[in-house]
Formats: sequence, C-alpha cells, structure tokens
Amino acid sequence: MKLGTLAACLSLALGASAFAQTTTLKIGYATTKESHYGVGSTVFCDEVEKGTQGRYKCQHFPNSALGGEREQIEAIQLGTQDLVNTSTGPVGNFVPEVKIVDIPFLFRDYDHARKVMDGPIGQDILAKFPSKGIIALGWTENGFRHMTNSKRDIVKPSDAAGLKMRTMENKVHMDGYRTFGILPTPMAFPELFGALQQGTVDGQENPIPVILSSKFSQVQNHLSLTAHVYSPALLLLSPKVWNKLSDADKKVFLEAAKKAGAAQRKKVNEDENNGIAQLEKDGMKVTRKVDGDAFRAALKPAYAGYAKEFGADNIKKISDVQ
Ligand code: PAF
Repeated sequence: MKLGTLAACLSLALGASAFAQTTTLKIGYATTKESHYGVGSTVFCDEVEKGTQGRYKCQHFPNSALGGEREQIEAIQLGTQDLVNTSTGPVGNFVPEVKIVDIPFLFRDYDHARKVMDGPIGQDILAKFPSKGIIALGWTENGFRHMTNSKRDIVKPSDAAGLKMRTMENKVHMDGYRTFGILPTPMAFPELFGALQQGTVDGQENPIPVILSSKFSQVQNHLSLTAHVYSPALLLLSPKVWNKLSDADKKVFLEAAKKAGAAQRKKVNEDENNGIAQLEKDGMKVTRKVDGDAFRAALKPAYAGYAKEFGADNIKKISDVQ
C-alpha cells in the first residue's frame, strides 16, 4: 500500500482529531500562579484548550520569568511571546489611548472602573491595539493601588512627601505622584523586591493582591490604604497567533478572555476582603483612615496637565459613568 493511502486509512480509523496538531502558547505575567494574574490566566488557558478541543494550550511563565511587563509587550509585538496578562503600567508607551485610564483618583470604586472598562469607552480603547501590532483580547484587573513604605504611616500627602517611591514606568502616574511630594523612581517590577530590601527606595505602591503574593510584608512595615489609582490590566496576544486563527477560534479566544477577566476580578475582590488582615498578621502596620480629599486637592495641578493632554471632556465622560 502506498504511503499516502496508508495515512488516509489511518486517519479514517483514528479520527481526524488524532492528527490535529497542538500549539502551545507562552503566557507570561508578573506574579505567582496562585495570584490574581495566575487565576485569570489559568481560566483563559483552560477555556481556550476546551473550546479548541486541545488544539491550543498554554505554558505558564509566572513571576516575571519572561521579563518585566514592558519587555513582554515588546515580545508580543515581535511574536517571540504569545500572550501576556499585564497591567496598563507600560502600555501607554505602545498605545497612547490607554493612558487616560491611568489618571489617579479617576475611578470612584471597583463598580465604576469595571463599568467603564466593559462599556463603550473601554471597548473603544481595545480597538486601538491592532494598529500598534498588538491584539487586546480583553480587560483583566490588577486592582486599586495602595502605598507601602519602610518609614512612616501615610494619612495625607505631607506624610508621603520626601519618600523615594518606586513607581511603574508610567508618566501619568509619576506626574500625579509628584504633586503628593513623593520622589517617584520608575523601575521594572522584577527589580523591586531587591530595591526595597536594600533600601534603594523607601516604598512602592501596588494593589493588595500584588503586596500579598510578592510578600512585600517581608521588606515593608507600613501599608496605607490610599487607593490613589485604579490599575487596569489586559490580556494581550501576538498578531502572529491571531492571524492564524479561524473565525471560530477567534471567538473562543475572545470568550475565554471575558471569563478570565471575571475570574481575575473575583480574586482581586477576595484578596481585598481577606488580604489586609493577613498582611497585618504578617507584621504590617495598616493605616485605614486616609485623607482622600487632601490627596485629591494636591492633584489639582496634575489634573490641569491631564485635561490638556486627554481633553477635559473625555475625563468627564469617564467620571460621569454611573
Ligand atoms: O507594579 C507593577 O509594575 C505592576 O502592578 C505589577 C506588579 C507588575 C502587576 O501588573
């Protein structure tokens, strides 16, 4: 029997799926596999594997194993990495339309932020990615950011003044934080634990799920629940993968990203509810009563700059979402 005929017979005997190739996608994120990013990424990958009958599955690279978030986004553009679950921290450097959602004290609470991301404003931002060589599958979530430091409790901006604080590589954040009197020190996340340990910086700011999963209680003793900015996150895919997908598979990937976003938000809620007590147990002194009005008042000069850059109307459109 000829080789081609043999293959055809085998395929009939075993069913076509036995010959279907599996593509393994590399997915990276900054924190542990058990953290909010790990939970969202796992749901995404499980749904993709199920929805494509095993033709696509993932290999996870947690703990910044593929580099900082900026490097991973660059790799997505180049096609040397398939997926990243990343905060918006460095994303505005690639897709400027994202920057508006990084404005401090723009969102009132989680309900407000999630409604904006899921509504027309958030969805329009996702549509800006393909022209920059990135596919944004959907919004996930990092959470509201709070300040930690090794020096003192922070209730109002004058307490934060003079502290050398690591920030993300994000100009919108840095412009805002300067009005609090903080000395912002941009740094990639993988360098942060060491910098806090060695005292290169006095503090940092991140959501509770990050403070917990990165064990910052080992190197910081003050936590202030400043909630000074919402930190959205995104599931980004390389166009190299997207362009090979059938229409049906594209639908599977987009649906999986929706489920991942929901699961990641649920984990953020759980960490917000249970994690602060855990951090206290781990030795952190928690300042719950923060003077939010004083922080908002300090931000006024930065807001003048934001209005110029993004348009006062566009900022108001976001604030007005109920
Ligand atoms: O601080 C950051 O850089 C981000 O919040 C982190 C921890 C990488 C998660 O997106």
